[in-house]
Amino acid sequence: MKRTLAVDLGAGLVLPTPVLIASGCAGTGKELSGLVDLRKVGGLVSRTITLDARKGSPPPRIAETPSGTVWSTGLQNPGVHAFIDAVQTRPEVVAVELHLSGPDEELRRDVLGEHIDRTGEIVGAVARMSLVPVFAKLPMTATELPELARACIRAGAHGLTIGGPPPAIGVVAGTLRPALGPVTGWMSGPALKPITLRAVFEAARVVPEAPIMAVGGVRSAEDAVEMLIAGASAVQIGTAVLVDPAAPVEIARGIAGYLKEKGLGTPDDLRARLRVPVGFREPEEP
Ligand SMILES: Cc1cc2nc3c(=O)[nH]c(=O)nc-3n(C[C@H](O)[C@H](O)[C@H](O)COP(=O)(O)O)c2cc1C
Repeated sequence: MKRTLAVDLGAGLVLPTPVLIASGCAGTGKELSGLVDLRKVGGLVSRTITLDARKGSPPPRIAETPSGTVWSTGLQNPGVHAFIDAVQTRPEVVAVELHLSGPDEELRRDVLGEHIDRTGEIVGAVARMSLVPVFAKLPMTATELPELARACIRAGAHGLTIGGPPPAIGVVAGTLRPALGPVTGWMSGPALKPITLRAVFEAARVVPEAPIMAVGGVRSAEDAVEMLIAGASAVQIGTAVLVDPAAPVEIARGIAGYLKEKGLGTPDDLRARLRVPVGFREPEEP
């Protein structure tokens, strides 16, 4: 049997390993190139790029908690013209990930990706224009996640990233001040793992044909394997990269070890293999 870590996500998207670096945790990639051999990383999702350049939030932008980090960057980035125009024609740009956990400024809603009609509209518009496959990064705590997943795939998304982290704040008792400059932010890190697992599991059952990237709380090969078993095709590593830039390489190595131990050929052999009891509720028909 030929054993490989490569994963085929369809539409010509073949990654050398199923372990990518999550958005916002390695800038646009340049920052990491001296610290880790990027050829051994499955892929890198750049920080979110907006239409106009953004200066980002006032500091502090990150605060530690016992179970992860609370953060808000205010999406600091150079703007689409300094970024996408320059990279659209580059072969290494293999996909677009749509960040849908931010506000819908036009309709004045806090989280765009919680509204099915609007999410479908935005995902459809991007998918029609994009030259590469589009992944919709849905908020992992969205109440109607299965319906959102279906709407994104129906609108033309090639796959899903599950998911955008939940909202959070930090409070400093000593000073009575918020831990973050922008006051409110998001939660990342180990605390998210079970929430991510459930969201991946639910989404994979309603759109089994679509590749899912799991992100939130993955910091070991075991975490990554669990995400694949729950229904993901690949995983993304966020805050664990801030601690150890080589984490994605180590995690991929650990997945290879697990496959060998189980006598399996590829990460895809693990996908959605969770053994649920006979009669466990079927996903509802749309
Ligand atoms: C400092 C920081 C910046 C981030 N910036 C972005 C971003 O620009 N766009 C985005 O979609 N997610 C962003 N994220 C969220 C991560 O991509 C990921 O969803 C989250 O950290 C959960 O994964 P983890 O538990 O492995 O850290 C950021 C996370 C951190 C910690």
